[in-house]
Amino acid sequence: DGYSVAVVGATGAVGTKLIEMLEQTNLPIKKIKLLASKRSAGRKLLFKGAGIFVEELVSEAFDDVDIALFSAGGSISEKYAPEAVKRGAVVIDNTSQFRMDKDTPLVVPEVNKEALKNHQGIIANPNCSTIQMMVALEPIKQLAGIDRVIVSTYQAVSGAGARAIEEVKQQAREILDGELPENLTTEILPVASDKKHYPLAFNALAQIDVFSDEDYTKEEWKMVNETKKIMEDNQIKITATCVRVPVISGHSESIYVETKEKSTVADIRAVLEKAPGVVVEDDPSQQIYPQAINSVGEKDTFVGRIRRDLDVDNGYHLWVVSDNLLKGAAWNSVQIAESLHEMDLVRV
Ligand code: A2P
Repeated sequence: DGYSVAVVGATGAVGTKLIEMLEQTNLPIKKIKLLASKRSAGRKLLFKGAGIFVEELVSEAFDDVDIALFSAGGSISEKYAPEAVKRGAVVIDNTSQFRMDKDTPLVVPEVNKEALKNHQGIIANPNCSTIQMMVALEPIKQLAGIDRVIVSTYQAVSGAGARAIEEVKQQAREILDGELPENLTTEILPVASDKKHYPLAFNALAQIDVFSDEDYTKEEWKMVNETKKIMEDNQIKITATCVRVPVISGHSESIYVETKEKSTVADIRAVLEKAPGVVVEDDPSQQIYPQAINSVGEKDTFVGRIRRDLDVDNGYHLWVVSDNLLKGAAWNSVQIAESLHEMDLVRV
C-alpha cells in the first residue's frame, strides 16, 4: 500500500531530480506516473531500476493520483493543478503560479511546516533562492530576531532549465574554440521569454526573470515577498540582487543580516550548527567555505564565511550555498510530501 504519485514535467531539469528524490524518500509509494509534453510521450525513464513510460499530460491522468508534483512551468500549473485537485490529488507546485495566493501554503519544512494544515489542495514550493536563504536565516531569527536582510545571489544555470544548460555549455565550447562573444548563439538566457538574449559563458548577468516594479526583476521580488510570507513577518526589511553566473548547479548567496537583538558570531555559528538541513563549513584558517560544485547532489544548505559587519552593531555576513535542483526544488517538494504524510494531510 502507499500513494500514487505523479511527476509533471518528468523529463525536465527539476523533474529528473524529483524522480531521484522520490527514489530516496521514505514516503510509501505504490505507483509512479511520469507526465510531460506529447514530445516525450513513450520515452522510458528509470524509477528504482524499473523502466516507466512517460505519458502525455492530460487532465484524466490525475484520476488515480494522490500526490502530484508539478515542475513544467507556470502556465501548465495554472491549467492542470486545479484539474488534479478536482480529481482528488494534493498538488505540490514548483512554479511561482500560486505562491502568493492567500489560500496556498508556501512551505520550507524546516521553517513553517505548520502552514500545511490550512492547505486547500495546492501547496507551493518557494523559489530556489528563497528556500536556501530561509534554511539559513530561520535559526538566526529564532536566536535574535531579524530586522533587515540584503542578499546578492550567484545563481546556477540549471535553474533556467535543461535547454539553458545546453546553451551555456555550447557557448563555452565556442569561446574556447576561438569564437568572439558577439558571435555566440544566444536564444534562451537570461530569460527565454524576454526580447533580448545575452551570452552567459564567461559572463555574469544581473537579470533573472523579467523586470518588474521599481526596476527589480521578478526573481528579486520573489525573494522579497516569499520571505515575508514564509517567515510570517511583513516588517522584515529585505532587498535582493539576483545574478546568473556560469555555474551548472548550486546557487550561492551573499547574505547580510541585521538582527533585532544583540548577538555574537559564536552564538550564530552555534545555532546554525544545530539547525536542521544546515551544514556549517567555515574555517578560514584552512580555507574552508561552501562551494557550489561541492553542493551538487547534496540535500543540505551549506553556510560559511560567518562574520560580523565592520560598522553595524547587529550586522552579520554569511555565504550560503545549496543545490538549487535539490533543496531549491525537488528535495524541498518531496520533503513537503513527507510532511503531508506525517501530518496526515494527503487526502483533502
Ligand atoms: P518535454 O521534455 O516533453 O518538453 P525544464 O524546466 O528543464 O525546461 O523542463 C520543463 C518540463 O516541462 C519538461 O519535462 C517538459 O516536457 C515539460 N513541459 C513543457 N511543456 C509542456 C506541456 N505543454 N505539457 C506537458 N509538459 C510540458
